[in-house]
Amino acid sequence: MAILFTGIKQLLTFAGDDAPRAGAAMREIGLVKNGAVLVEKGIVEAAGPRAAVARHRLAKTAKVVETGGVCLPGFVDSHTHMIFAEPRLKDFSMRTAGASYPEIKAAGGGILSSIGAVRKQPLKPMAAQLARRAARFLECGTTTAEVKSGYGLSLDSELKMLRAVREARKLTPLELLPTLLAAHSVPPEFNGDSQKYLDHIIAEILPKAAAEGLAVFADIFCEKGYFTPEQTTTYLKEAARLGLRPKVHSEQLSNYGGTRAGAAAGAVSADHADHVYAEDIAAMRDAGTIATLLPASNYYLGLSKFPPARELIAEGVPVALATDFNPGTCPCWNMQFVLSVACTHCAMTPEEALCAATVNGAWALGIGDRCGVIAPGRQADLAFFAAYDYRELCYYFGANQCSMTVKKGKILRGTPGTLLSC
Ligand code: NIG
Ligand code: FE
Repeated sequence: MAILFTGIKQLLTFAGDDAPRAGAAMREIGLVKNGAVLVEKGIVEAAGPRAAVARHRLAKTAKVVETGGVCLPGFVDSHTHMIFAEPRLKDFSMRTAGASYPEIKAAGGGILSSIGAVRKQPLKPMAAQLARRAARFLECGTTTAEVKSGYGLSLDSELKMLRAVREARKLTPLELLPTLLAAHSVPPEFNGDSQKYLDHIIAEILPKAAAEGLAVFADIFCEKGYFTPEQTTTYLKEAARLGLRPKVHSEQLSNYGGTRAGAAAGAVSADHADHVYAEDIAAMRDAGTIATLLPASNYYLGLSKFPPARELIAEGVPVALATDFNPGTCPCWNMQFVLSVACTHCAMTPEEALCAATVNGAWALGIGDRCGVIAPGRQADLAFFAAYDYRELCYYFGANQCSMTVKKGKILRGTPGTLLSC
């Protein structure tokens, strides 16, 4: 049976070009006042002014849901490290005592301190934990999320993490897209020899992950003390040869060259971009690489520097926003908080921030042709908010304003009996 979501005070469709949005197009939100969305079999049949949608032949017999509020495409969180066994509370205490990212790493914290518990955790509890976390994302209006491996850093554990994503898909309606991030850090067994570990990844981990169809993307942390731009090029080219789309963590802590290496290897996105210069920005624009900004991690690390969103947008680079949810640098799953930081610390407008969290997030995951906008024929992934004006989503912060999430036409919150369990 069709469902008619109606009485929407402000519907943001983001209808527009079938491509990542750049420049002024990032401010085109497709606002409809007093709108409606008609959904059948998980697909949007019609979206627009209430009166026009009500004339659709399926509207006559549809189940009617009077929603009020603001409706957007569900958030597409295109960068998360959602699988980890334990929070890193020791890192947190050190940081509150003034320790920096490299100081925490040198003291045995950071990425490597997550691998012990992840290696020990069996696959089934890992998948169940991931599905419980997925419920938190759905509650906040996220309908699709990318999930990276990268806390196993051995053949067995990296494959286990990706298989856990596959298992978790059966347990949660949140759409999960897996990324192999075996090149996240150099595990202790390799005694700091990043080249030897990278050779192992290329000989063993990448081909097995690709052969089992476990990952859509391959990602690498290009930074001093992790992997070099040359290693990034080698890894991403090999990943692409095996059918995994390249992504890169680049220019997070310093200007090191990962963004240019990623763009040259055909990266769909270059993520963080805190320290990009003009030549990095030009490389992204020319290669069609999306800049995925993760400003909630800057906030959480107490950094005064935030990614240069204004320059990126002015230069025509499509910008996406994501949480970077992870146990070390950003334990936040709520995209509404990311919107707030993007507006208050990166000078993005609410319109740009919302575009970056929906349409451009979808393109950063290569699914912009079915997700990220509300238009006939697209997947019915919707997020409803208890607000009068869409700008309230960026204006209020620290709370969850999402009142209902709809994934592939299925109502996940807001209707008695369908509340998510966590
Ligand atoms: O995106 N920079 C590398 N990776 C993560 C941090 C992960 C962690 O600290 O566990 C990031 O910030
Ligand atoms: Fe990350």
